[in-house]
Amino acid sequence: MDSGIWAAPGRVNLIGEHTDYNDGFVLPFALPLRATVSASRHDSPQWTATSEEQPGEVRFGPGTDGPDGWGRYVAGVVWALREAGYEPPGADLRISSDIPVGAGLSSSHALECAVLTALCDLGNLDLPLADRPALVQRAENGYVGAPTGIMDQTASLMCRAGHALFLDCRSMATEHIPFDLAAADMAILVIDTKAPHQHSDGEYGVRRRTCEEAAQLLGIPALRDVTDLDEALAKLPDEVSRKRVRHVVTENQRVLDTVALLRAGRFADTGPLLTASHASMRDDYEITVPEVDTAVSAALDAGAYGARMTGGGFGGCVLALIDAPAADRVSGAVAKAFADRGFAPPAAFTAIPSNGATRLTD
Ligand code: GLA
Repeated sequence: MDSGIWAAPGRVNLIGEHTDYNDGFVLPFALPLRATVSASRHDSPQWTATSEEQPGEVRFGPGTDGPDGWGRYVAGVVWALREAGYEPPGADLRISSDIPVGAGLSSSHALECAVLTALCDLGNLDLPLADRPALVQRAENGYVGAPTGIMDQTASLMCRAGHALFLDCRSMATEHIPFDLAAADMAILVIDTKAPHQHSDGEYGVRRRTCEEAAQLLGIPALRDVTDLDEALAKLPDEVSRKRVRHVVTENQRVLDTVALLRAGRFADTGPLLTASHASMRDDYEITVPEVDTAVSAALDAGAYGARMTGGGFGGCVLALIDAPAADRVSGAVAKAFADRGFAPPAAFTAIPSNGATRLTD
């Protein structure tokens, strides 16, 4: 195969925030929004990339400096493939994406996953699907320089339409949990608060380190291994780490409880867990901002079953579990609350659980 078109989606996380790098549980689903890569291979180990949304042409190859900006996501995938012993084919890549950038919907992971899938197919690389999330994480951590966990890549590569992906981030065991909201006349409303992501990178790393240090103090491999929360909290020397640990441990349990309810088809009953997750992110993990808290309160006041921030935090998107006919009412209520508080207008759309990365052409 010499050319083709590949796509990989952004994601929302239904529940399980900042649990992935603590070896815990997450429950994301893929969005219909995606990054698309039209790629053709050539024989020399050179890569070019252009983007419909971003300026500039990216070019790199052996002996040239790596690109800046969005090109790093492309170069990072090539780098990680080579690091893992694969020989990715040289290629010209044309990229486009309808995932809003900076909204916490994993636009960069979607781009990386689309590029990886394209290069694997073009080069007939024997890289099993199960090994791909870790390779994309390596690109992020080792090349792009973002200390992210494993959730976003796994969601973008593995999700299935009509399902949420229950992922154990320690064993990497996955289970596709039926989540056909439309059949229940329900929907997930995603509200992009447009709040600027201030300090998100640095604060993410700080949260991650605090968790790792707490696990070390507790003498366990990761916070996943806390079995008695009160006992663990009593051993921690400061209030900040107690709060962070409480979030992670209670959030893992909320994921398990949510999965049990979804398996029983009790979608509406998951609402209180989503809202409790938000309170935990706000009060214990301290990663929300006023726009995000306002969107959650307004959605709940307008009748949502539950609402929470989704993604890394410090801005980005909120999701609300609603009856499908309530979408306009709930998004209108959030827009009004934003206007009342002088925030920039939010954007909203209903999210349909969609498929992971795929080749679009035969
Ligand atoms: C970002 C990271 C993920 C995960 C979430 C928080 O999206 O990329 O690995 O840690 O934040 O749940």
